[in-house]
Amino acid sequence: MSAHGTTTAPATVTRTVLALDALTVGYAGAPVVDRLTLDVAPGDVVALLGANGAGKTTLLRTVSGLLVPRSGRVLLDGDDLTTTPVEERARRGLAQVPEGRSVVAELTVEENLTLGALWKVPGRRARRAAIAELYEQFEPLARRRRALGHQLSGGERQMLALARALVSQPRVLLLDEPSLGLAPRVVAQLMGVLRDTARRTGLTVLLAEQNVTSALSVADRGVVLALGKVVADAPAADIAADPALRHAYLGF
Ligand SMILES: Nc1ncnc2c1ncn2[C@@H]1O[C@H](COP(=O)(O)OP(=O)(O)OP(=O)(O)O)[C@@H](O)[C@H]1O
Ligand SMILES: [Mg+2]
Repeated sequence: MSAHGTTTAPATVTRTVLALDALTVGYAGAPVVDRLTLDVAPGDVVALLGANGAGKTTLLRTVSGLLVPRSGRVLLDGDDLTTTPVEERARRGLAQVPEGRSVVAELTVEENLTLGALWKVPGRRARRAAIAELYEQFEPLARRRRALGHQLSGGERQMLALARALVSQPRVLLLDEPSLGLAPRVVAQLMGVLRDTARRTGLTVLLAEQNVTSALSVADRGVVLALGKVVADAPAADIAADPALRHAYLGF
């Protein structure tokens, strides 16, 4: 407290929602993620970049709890979740959209969303309200609410996978290659929805992408992985403007 009695925190204090502390993860053989440390501030949209096999998916799966690291820690709001089961991490606000836009093909859009909300949003009325709110952001889905999963286009399916993860109002969203196989126009639409959602709700996003340009267009910050290590961590605009970095690690 200062002489004037104020209790304002110093400007240098930064808050962290997600902290990865010296994570080492592997399958058989050499580690794929190697003593990786990363702090993510609330509301930050972080593009996780790197060539094929750099370790992006492995890292996301370790954060969501599908993989257990050999060493190091995953912290959410300072709580150590390194060995916490996937479901409990989800309950605490971690949501993952894995690669491949998995939606239930035999269910309608609305049923898929209801399923996503089922055990995370208690009460039928609250679930209906949460889904109605999503339809306002995801207009293409609102128009297709009675369509079955298998009747959707690739872009609609990816949008549904994203909406289903958001229906529980997570604090941290982990997205793996959402743009894969989609037309540029559809990717732009998807990234637009993601950016709007993040701005409006303060959602924190870790976005793994091979589509570097798209990812950097929505991200605040870019983190480049190579051989499981962070080789660059900078504002998204700086990474986009660094040709040497792009050539060395991102292939363009
Ligand atoms: N289930 C697995 N078993 C064994 N090795 C794996 C497994 N999954 C990934 N790997 C290996 O780990 C390394 C990192 O893979 P990972 O999928 O994390 O990379 P990535 O950055 O997501 O790549 P991509 O851009 O191709 O999606 C690669 O060498 C890969 O072959
Ligand atoms: Mg991957």
